[in-house]
Amino acid sequence: MAARDIGSSLLVVGLLLFFHTWGASAAVEVNMEDRVDVNLGDTAHITCLFSTEDGIGGNIIQWFYVTRTGEKQRIYYLETGMSYAEKGTPFSDRISVNGTGAPGEVVLTINDVQLKDELEFICIVKSLTDGTAEGRTRLRVFQSPAKPTIVGAQQGIQEGILSTIGTCEVKNGYPKPNITWYKDNTPIRSVRDEVNVVPSIITEYNGLYSVKSELSMKVVKADADSLFYCEITYMTFGGGILMAETNPINITVFYPHTTLKMWVESPKGKIKQGDTVEIHCSGDGNNPFTEFTINGPENLSSVTNKLVLQNVTRLNSGEYLCTSLDMETFEEITENITIFVNYLEDVVIKPEKIIEVPQGEETRATCNAMSSLHTQIAWFKDGEQVAKGPTLVLPNATFGAAGTYVCVVTAQEVEGVETSGALRVHVQGQPDIQTPGNTEMEESVDSTVDLSCYVQGYPYPTVTWSTSEGKILPAASETETDDGVLSKASVKVTGDIIVFCNATNSLGEDSVAFSIKAIIHTTPETTTSPTVSPTTTVTTVSPVKPETAIPPEKVEKEGSGVIIAVIIICILLLAILGSVLYFLYKKGKICGRSGKQDLAKGKSGKDNIVVEMKSDNTEEAVLLGVNGEKQASNYQ
Ligand SMILES: *[C@@H]1O[C@H](CO)[C@@H](O)[C@H](O)[C@H]1NC(C)=O
Ligand SMILES: *[C@@H]1O[C@H](CO)[C@@H](O)[C@H](O)[C@H]1NC(C)=O
Ligand SMILES: *[C@@H]1O[C@H](CO)[C@@H](O)[C@H](O)[C@H]1NC(C)=O
Ligand SMILES: *[C@@H]1O[C@H](CO)[C@@H](O)[C@H](O)[C@H]1NC(C)=O
Ligand SMILES: *[C@@H]1O[C@H](CO)[C@@H](O)[C@H](O)[C@H]1NC(C)=O
Ligand SMILES: *[C@@H]1O[C@H](CO)[C@@H](O)[C@H](O)[C@H]1NC(C)=O
Ligand SMILES: *[C@@H]1O[C@H](CO)[C@@H](O)[C@H](O)[C@H]1NC(C)=O
Ligand SMILES: *[C@@H]1O[C@H](CO)[C@@H](O)[C@H](O)[C@H]1NC(C)=O
Repeated sequence: MAARDIGSSLLVVGLLLFFHTWGASAAVEVNMEDRVDVNLGDTAHITCLFSTEDGIGGNIIQWFYVTRTGEKQRIYYLETGMSYAEKGTPFSDRISVNGTGAPGEVVLTINDVQLKDELEFICIVKSLTDGTAEGRTRLRVFQSPAKPTIVGAQQGIQEGILSTIGTCEVKNGYPKPNITWYKDNTPIRSVRDEVNVVPSIITEYNGLYSVKSELSMKVVKADADSLFYCEITYMTFGGGILMAETNPINITVFYPHTTLKMWVESPKGKIKQGDTVEIHCSGDGNNPFTEFTINGPENLSSVTNKLVLQNVTRLNSGEYLCTSLDMETFEEITENITIFVNYLEDVVIKPEKIIEVPQGEETRATCNAMSSLHTQIAWFKDGEQVAKGPTLVLPNATFGAAGTYVCVVTAQEVEGVETSGALRVHVQGQPDIQTPGNTEMEESVDSTVDLSCYVQGYPYPTVTWSTSEGKILPAASETETDDGVLSKASVKVTGDIIVFCNATNSLGEDSVAFSIKAIIHTTPETTTSPTVSPTTTVTTVSPVKPETAIPPEKVEKEGSGVIIAVIIICILLLAILGSVLYFLYKKGKICGRSGKQDLAKGKSGKDNIVVEMKSDNTEEAVLLGVNGEKQASNYQ
């Protein structure tokens, strides 16, 4: 519509021009530039050059612009002595017309050029005598747009689906800028169903153009490596074309998995019982809209691409299947992996865990543990290796062979796989007391002596402690060892004593006697050295003869010294008695017995000579065993 208007007005003007030129040939001439370009807001200068025969003075110069409807609208009038801008036009207060000083040249100055000023301006010069001429200049206004921007797709883009890659925008340009998309320096053109470039143009309130362009396309995996950007082109004055580019963006392309991979992330190497096993599954795609599941034996499953098995057992061995399900295409792919949990079972010892071997015989035991691995077996006793391999041979068993044998099964292929079992060996034999270094000792009276008796033999011997008088002593402690029994007893020394350690089992017996000689201090030093306790003052004093060492207060306790003293007294009494009897005999009085007491006791009955004596003067009866001499020798 506007173009047609301008066209018709141009036609009218052209006719007029022709008419004038024809009417007043070469009288007035006007020359103007076709176009004047100016940036928005700047000042435009439109120059009108004219020549006339009349000289400068007598001309009327008028400025018009052509309205959108094609009409001429005067905006300025100038003649000698008078000039004014028409009131009420869009230019009234923004224009001025000056001469440049040169003859035949006036300049229309438009300040603060607006977009709506993009019009055709006419300069008409009317000579008083030579007629009228006019010239026309089209004013073009330009505005460089702002720096273009680009926004890429925020999410990843699915392969093969027409999706938005990004949007470019350039704002406030005039005339309308163009946007061209580039992928890796190649301009992108719309291709039906493949590439879609959709521009949209906004005319801002001030008449400037803002242009947007959205690129959609079907991407392929390789597009993940491409760079996308926009180039904008816009016209500037003088017909030049300028351009600007956005920064490049790249996109994330989501492509589906086509194959899966499954592996054991940890442990590296062979799996053993008790390990924590981590199974991973991943595909060659990157589409996040994929659901992974891993299924194993024993209902083990995971809805991620990772399965963690704590403390695995043999039951965890088996096939694990990973499935990926594309949530868009519902395509499923699977992969599987076989897990094997190595095991080492408990040790089995044959013939059994406790064996009894007769002394001197040969015995064998074997040890084994079921395992999926190659194992090494070794036997240990008291921390030292005694056999390598599953078989333990004990030729000619001695008591020293008794004890605990530990069979250790290891699998060197896998760190930390080990199991062990124990075999208890008893060597059968009659008791055999390991004679202690010292069975004869001297101890001070009142001290306590600790005795120990170590008896080899199996079945475990029964150990009895006793004194020579037949008194049974309680054992202070009794410990079973590998090859026998260690028994301890404590004896309080009151005088010379013999203590027996007797051991018996079903196969025999053995005994040992400890002979303790009591020592008495000749010069008691308890007052001068009170810190020394009686039990520790041992054998520093030279032994004294038992006869002289009679502790008077011990008489009623029947110490050996007391008995000797009694014997001596008795002998003296016998001597006196003998002489008294002799005296009485001489006097003719025969002595008669009154009551007889049998002093026979146990085994010592038959050889005893028993004498009873009754003193006339209320002396107590004294019993005397003649075989006491034998007992006394035993005590020494
Ligand atoms: C144009 O005219 C204005 C006022 O009419 C004056 O201020 C200005 O200096 C003139 N410019 C020239 C270049 O003569
Ligand atoms: C903008 O694009 C149109 C159509 O392709 C073209 O005619 C015009 O010259 C272009 N303008 C610029 C400034 O590139
Ligand atoms: C392209 O993407 C990668 C990874 O997403 C990023 O490191 C790189 O900086 C991006 N390059 C550009 C030009 O955006
Ligand atoms: C596994 O699942 C089946 C059926 O759901 C069930 O019968 C079975 O007891 C489960 N096994 C274990 C070890 O949980
Ligand atoms: C591992 O499993 C075994 C057998 O089921 C169990 O005895 C042990 O306590 C478990 N260990 C841990 C750390 O869960
Ligand atoms: C496991 O994978 C093997 C080879 O990769 C295949 O032959 C077998 O059929 C698969 N098993 C299952 C249950 O998919
Ligand atoms: C067994 O050992 C004992 C003592 O060491 C030895 O006397 C005997 O000869 C050995 N017998 C055999 C068969 O080796
Ligand atoms: C202990 O052995 C000795 C010597 O063989 C023996 O005289 C004594 O009677 C035994 N004692 C016991 C309680 O068997």
